[in-house]
Amino acid sequence: GAPVKVNVSKIEPGQQIVAEWRGQPIFISRRTPEALALLDEMDSVVADPNSESSDQPEYVDGKTRAIKPELLVVLGICTHLGCSPLFKPEVGAADMGADWKGGYFCPCHGSFYDMSGRVFKGMPAPLNLPVPPHTYESDDVIIIG
Ligand code: FES
Repeated sequence: GAPVKVNVSKIEPGQQIVAEWRGQPIFISRRTPEALALLDEMDSVVADPNSESSDQPEYVDGKTRAIKPELLVVLGICTHLGCSPLFKPEVGAADMGADWKGGYFCPCHGSFYDMSGRVFKGMPAPLNLPVPPHTYESDDVIIIG
């Protein structure tokens, strides 16, 4: 499939948009400084904190999993059986429990992921949400693929 251009300028901090690439949903979220600061706390909670077993390009680091730390780009497909996880960015989201620090929830079999798409330990899903190949054409335009 052809690469896809996405303008990210209208994504507010704490929000996400869903793009499409090769017929698959791509989640693009703009993380707040607070959300990025919480990633360290999640290292002990997630199964693959440095994404060593997970699918991502070598030019993103294992924790923020992003070229620009504030902008996460991940495949919106659960690594268990392929459902689309729900974006739950609020810390202490009422339906996720007071300890929730924000992330993604897969409603099919209950896998939790953090705000970097890193799966929690002991979940049905084995791996972090994949990061697709992407580059910046300009400050506001990402090319996926
Ligand atoms: Fe997501 Fe099973 S498909 S937990």
